[in-house]
Amino acid sequence: MKTNLSFTNPAEVETDCLAVVVLDRGDKDKADVFADSADNAVNEATKDVIASGEVAAKPLETTLIHKPAGLKAKRLLLLGGGKASKFSAFDLRKLAGAAVRSLKGRGLRSFAIAVPQSLKADEAVRAAVEGAFVGNFDPDYYKSDRKDQKIDALTVVASGDPSNLQKAMDEARIVGESQNFVRDLVNEPSNRMTPTILGDRAKKMAQEVGLQCEVYGADKIKELKMGAFWSVAQGSDEPPALIILKYEPAGAPEKPVLGLVGKGVTFDTGGISIKPADGMEKMKYDMAGGATMIGAMRAIALLKPKVKITAIICATENMPSGKAQKPGDVQIAMSGKSIEIINTDAEGRLVLADGLHYAKQLGCTHLIDAATLTGAVVVALGYVNAGIFANDDKMYERFKNALDKAGEKMWRMPLDEEYKDIIKSNIADIMNSGGRYGGAVTAAMFLKEFAEDTPWIHLDIAGTAWMEDNKPWIAKGPSGIALRSLVEFARSFNE
Ligand code: BES
Ligand code: MN
Ligand code: ZN
Repeated sequence: MKTNLSFTNPAEVETDCLAVVVLDRGDKDKADVFADSADNAVNEATKDVIASGEVAAKPLETTLIHKPAGLKAKRLLLLGGGKASKFSAFDLRKLAGAAVRSLKGRGLRSFAIAVPQSLKADEAVRAAVEGAFVGNFDPDYYKSDRKDQKIDALTVVASGDPSNLQKAMDEARIVGESQNFVRDLVNEPSNRMTPTILGDRAKKMAQEVGLQCEVYGADKIKELKMGAFWSVAQGSDEPPALIILKYEPAGAPEKPVLGLVGKGVTFDTGGISIKPADGMEKMKYDMAGGATMIGAMRAIALLKPKVKITAIICATENMPSGKAQKPGDVQIAMSGKSIEIINTDAEGRLVLADGLHYAKQLGCTHLIDAATLTGAVVVALGYVNAGIFANDDKMYERFKNALDKAGEKMWRMPLDEEYKDIIKSNIADIMNSGGRYGGAVTAAMFLKEFAEDTPWIHLDIAGTAWMEDNKPWIAKGPSGIALRSLVEFARSFNE
């Protein structure tokens, strides 16, 4: 999708459709709807339909008007933004996605969106572009009659400092494209996204944007004594991949070094502790954390913050076989800690244990991991918030800032020492499963044993990496969650 900025009055923009936000500044007894635009002609053009009472400005409500009087646009799309007092860039991001999804479905290929007057122009440009990219993705890759309906060109109509707004647009486009790059990877089924293919895609991307990339196989994993990672990989005929991406810009200080560690389980059958058949097909998205880190590195390479960043993706299938590990087995992680395997389906924490340890060994001073780690986080937070766990309040606060700017939803969960008792083992240092209760927390406690004293954040995206339904602003399928926050965090990491 091409993106361009226009500083013309919205009414003067020649386009197939002009999208404008409408808000409600009334109280709860009586709506008072208005177009959030400084352009009088736009206000005039919306007056009649608003006066009719048909437009309530409810969140995500869309109204399409043909041949709007006084505007050069062929159509006018009113985007309901809800209460004026609460409207923010977070909402605009969704509205831009909703505009894309509603217009591309009608066969339109280009449109313009007017930046609402009530928002800061650069934040609004950013949100509109990011949201439009999110809305432009569809997962129907393998349909023979795939129409591949997409918006090809988006114009953002704004006023303000041109170079500042152009920068906002260029950066947002990098972020939006990178988020869709992640969704591309996650959308592929496991027969088309093996660990090897994931490694190839990382290499290809690295070459395109100028990152260092190494992809190692089983030999290196064994040589590094990654006994936890290997214990998962050993059961599969499909070779595992240890993917390392490095971003080391000239002029960056030696420290800090941010480590991004991703769970790249390209299919999770559960292993010998096999999962029920119902819904197992969805376990192709168990590499979403890894894909997110690859996509984040893409955006980082293009945005060029002055800070060193290393990404480690532990990619493998989790399969039952004659070679697969069994419940009761004891494995020695790279850090030297011994792990009693209680449930072979708790494999994500195993691959991450070695990924986190290796990141520290490579010099990372701060760690973030992302993983579709537990069903329990879905029980706790549903599909709305991802779970955040942090062993360092300062790092959490900084991440929270990035989260708010990026417009993503995550909720902090506890890591009290008391939970550690639940994963104590009789035979080894630690068990890989603490059972159902507090399952998301005990999984995080397990990871904490490998992050140790290094400031670390764990993102459990099991409930948020996959949209269960079509939404007005995003298609059912891979969401690309956490990419925007990670990139935002990385960009401000050195400040
Ligand atoms: N990949 C799953 C977690 C998951 C569940 C991701 C639902 C996406 C949607 C993970 O490897 C897993 O199987 N976790 C187990 C852990 C348990 C055996 C301790 C779980 O959550 O049931
Ligand atoms: Mn599992
Ligand atoms: Zn898994």
